[in-house]
Amino acid sequence: MCGIVGYVGEKQALEVVVEGLRKLEYRGYDSAGVAVVSGDHLDVRKKAGKLANLESLLGTDPLASSTIGIGHTRWATHGGPTDANAHPHVSEDGRVAVIHNGIIENFAELRAELTAAGVTLSSETDTEVVAHILARSLPAVGGDLAEAMRHTCQRLEGAFTLVAVVADDTDVVVAARRNSPLVVGLGQGENFLASDVSAFVAYTREALELGQDQVVSITREGVTITDFDGVAVEAKPFTVTWDAAAAEKGGHDTFMMKEIYEQPKSVADALRGRVGTDGRLQLDEMRLSDSDLREIDKIVVIACGTAYHAGLVAKYAIEHWTRIPVDVELASEFRYRDPIVDDRTLTIAISQSGETMDTLMALRYAREQGSKALAICNTVGSTIPRESDAVLYTYAGPEIAVASTKAFLTQIIAAYLVGLYLAQVRGNMFGDEIASVMRDLQDMPQAVDRVLDTVEPVTELARELAAVPSVLFIGRHVGYPVALEGALKLKELAYMHAEGFAAGELKHGPIALIEEGVPVVVVVPSPRGRATLHDKIISNMQEVRARGARTIVIAEEGDETVVPYADHIIRVPVVPTLMQPLVSTVPLQVFACAMATAKGHDVDQPRNLAKSVTVE
Ligand code: G6P
Repeated sequence: MCGIVGYVGEKQALEVVVEGLRKLEYRGYDSAGVAVVSGDHLDVRKKAGKLANLESLLGTDPLASSTIGIGHTRWATHGGPTDANAHPHVSEDGRVAVIHNGIIENFAELRAELTAAGVTLSSETDTEVVAHILARSLPAVGGDLAEAMRHTCQRLEGAFTLVAVVADDTDVVVAARRNSPLVVGLGQGENFLASDVSAFVAYTREALELGQDQVVSITREGVTITDFDGVAVEAKPFTVTWDAAAAEKGGHDTFMMKEIYEQPKSVADALRGRVGTDGRLQLDEMRLSDSDLREIDKIVVIACGTAYHAGLVAKYAIEHWTRIPVDVELASEFRYRDPIVDDRTLTIAISQSGETMDTLMALRYAREQGSKALAICNTVGSTIPRESDAVLYTYAGPEIAVASTKAFLTQIIAAYLVGLYLAQVRGNMFGDEIASVMRDLQDMPQAVDRVLDTVEPVTELARELAAVPSVLFIGRHVGYPVALEGALKLKELAYMHAEGFAAGELKHGPIALIEEGVPVVVVVPSPRGRATLHDKIISNMQEVRARGARTIVIAEEGDETVVPYADHIIRVPVVPTLMQPLVSTVPLQVFACAMATAKGHDVDQPRNLAKSVTVE
C-alpha cells in the first residue's frame, strides 16, 4: 500500500526512481510523484492516476538532471486521488520533500497546530504535516536531516515509512520506519531505499532489513541506521534469491496470467529442501523447542483475503493430522473480540507480503497474550516473519498482480508442511505416513501443470458469461474455501457480484438467489473421498438446477455421476482429497482473469485495491 523509492548514486535518479515505481505500482496506483535535488533546489512532479500519467507529464515538463531522488506511488487514504494530494509533499519554504506510506493517526492535531502557527496546507493528506514539521525542525539541529527526522518521528503516532530529501543536500536521502515496510539496497557507489526489493533488484541483490522505529540515511558511500533516539543500530543483511527477470511478465499479457502459469514451479519451490538428511521435515527458521510444540493445545490461524482462504483449507489438514483444534480468524476481527489465546496456543500468521497491517497487529496481540507465533510468508525479511518464533517461507517468487494466485497455492503447501511438522514432533503420524503425504505433495506440480494444459475452455466460458450480473460458488469440505476464493477472485477482477457458500448452507438462505440462468460454480469433492459428501453435492446440484441455475461443475477426471447435472464440466486430475484445492482453484483463477479481460478491466491493477495493505 503505497510504494516508496529513494536513490543516491551516479545514475540519473529519475530513471532509477521511475523504474522502481513501475515495479512497486502494484502497491497503489491512485497517483505517482517524484522529487530530485538539483543544485540547491528541489524539482518535484506529481500527477493523479497511474504512473503512465506522471511519465506523460515528465515528457512535456522534464525534471532537472540529478543523481539523488525519491518517488512514490499512492493508494489513497487521507484525501482523494488528486494532483494536490499526490506525494511528494513539500514544506512551505520548498526546501524539504517527503513521501509516506502509512497513516499518521495524530495528523489532525498536528495540522491544527501548524495552521495556528500560520502554515498554509496545500493538500488534504496526513503526510503534508510531516514535510512542514521536518522543515521546521531543521534549523535547530544545524540542518541535519536525519536528526530532524528523529525529532519529527517522536511527534508522530500511527504507521509510517517516511523518506525525505532536502534542497541543499545532494548527498543524503533519509528515511524512517514504524510498522510500514522499508528495505535498503546496497550498491557500489550507490544505495537504494524501497518498500520492497523489487524496486532495486535490477541493480543489486544485497539488502538490509530495517527494524521498528529506525531512521536510516543513505549516501553514495554508505548507510547509517539509528533508533529514534539517535543510538546506532545494526541492520540484518540478506541477499535476494530471485533476479530482475522474475519480476517481468515473461511473454504473458499480464502478471496475473504469468503468475497463474508459474504455479507448478512455485509449488515445487515451496516444497524444495524440506526434508533434512535425517529424513525429518524442517522449517526455515525455528526458535521453538520440540517441547514447546508438544504443549500446544490450540492453533489460531490469522490472515486476510486470499491468505485467509488458505488458512481455511489448512484447517482441514492440520486438524486431521495433528488432532489439535484449529481456529481460522480474519486478522482484522481477531483482537477486537477478546480471543482466548495463551502460552499453549500456536498462532499461525499467513501473509504473502508479510506487511499486512491487520495481520501484523493480530500477531502482536496474540504474542502479548503469550502465544507462540509461526509465520507463513512469501517475502523474506518482512515484518511478520521477523516478529515470529518460527518461519516457513513460501518461495513463490515475486507476486506482482494484485489478486493473489501462486501465493495461495504455496500458502496451502506451507500450512500443510506445518501440520506435518507438528504431527512429526508430537508423534501423531508415523514417519512413513508423513513420507506418503510428502509424495502426494511432490506430485502436485505435475497435477497443476495438467490443469493449466486443459484450461482453454474455461477462458471461452468466461467470455460467454461476461455479461451476467452475478455468479455463485458452492463447495463442501476443502471445496468450500475454494468456492470462497473463486468468488473473491471474481469480485476483485471482474467487479461483479460473486459469492461463495458451503453447499449445505444453500437451503438455509442462499438458494433464494437462484433464478433462471444464474451461473453456479460447483466444486465437487472426489467420489473416492467421503462418499456422503459427493452424494450431497450431487443433490445440491439438482436443487439449484431445478430452480433454473446454470451449473459449471469442477469435477475430477472420470467422475461421470456429475454429467447429468452439469451444464459445463471442467475436469481436474484425480488427487487425494486434501490436495484437491491445489488443482480446483486454478480454473477459477483463469475464469476470473478471463472474465475481467473480456470486460476490458486492468487485470493486474484492479480498481480500488492494493496488493500490500499496510493500514488497518
Ligand atoms: C490484499 C490483497 C489480497 C491479499 C490480502 C492479504 O487485500 O489484495 O490479494 O490476499 O491483501 O495480503 P497478504 O500479503 O497478507 O497475504
